[in-house]
Amino acid sequence: MDDGQKLHLVGLTNSCRPNSYNHMVLNHIKSNFQDLMDLHLFDISKIPFYEDRAETASFSHAITALSELISQSHGLIVASPEYNHSVPARLKNTIDWMSRMPAKPLLRLPVMLISASTGLLGGVRVQYELRRIFEATDSRVMIKPEVFIGKVHEKFSTAGVCTDHETSALIKNQFESFSDWMKNYSLNLNCFEENVAHP
Ligand SMILES: Cc1cc2nc3c(=O)[nH]c(=O)nc-3n(C[C@H](O)[C@H](O)[C@H](O)COP(=O)(O)O)c2cc1C
Repeated sequence: MDDGQKLHLVGLTNSCRPNSYNHMVLNHIKSNFQDLMDLHLFDISKIPFYEDRAETASFSHAITALSELISQSHGLIVASPEYNHSVPARLKNTIDWMSRMPAKPLLRLPVMLISASTGLLGGVRVQYELRRIFEATDSRVMIKPEVFIGKVHEKFSTAGVCTDHETSALIKNQFESFSDWMKNYSLNLNCFEENVAHP
């Protein structure tokens, strides 16, 4: 990947509230960094719950579409709410599906994690759960900078505009770091060839 090339990224969130703050975060990233990347926000609400029978039959359209989309992208941005100190079921289910796809879309995929919560901690715990899950899929989660947006209702307007300069600056720093890291990562892809967990 050369320095001037635009990144093609996929954005996922839990998608079960029309005014989701995490969806606002993804929209904020999408609209603020258009010069660096195209971010495809994929709606996971049509993805059925995982069952073994479905895996041996045929994958539903939404599952196949997401697998193809991720396979053709440079990386993934996950903006997740925290539910009871953990990963919301719909998002976990989506990752479980992707881990079973023959194309292995998550394998060695660069991932940026961000979380927004109305609570004070901003989803610290969900991000650590997500890190463990993405270890199992052998994905490459960027370690730092981490961004946890606490009291998000005070930082985004109801129209979805980020009104807090500090939050906006943290997101900018994180996304630019992700972009730089991915470009370096791609240049060093061979370093990971010996690390294939699912040969
Ligand atoms: C079932 C449920 C469990 C929740 N558990 C937590 C939690 O453990 N920690 C937290 O910070 N917020 C928790 N919240 C509050 C969410 O942070 C808040 O609803 C947030 O707006 C969800 O993100 P969203 O706006 O993107 O849907 C919970 C909300 C729900 C509906």
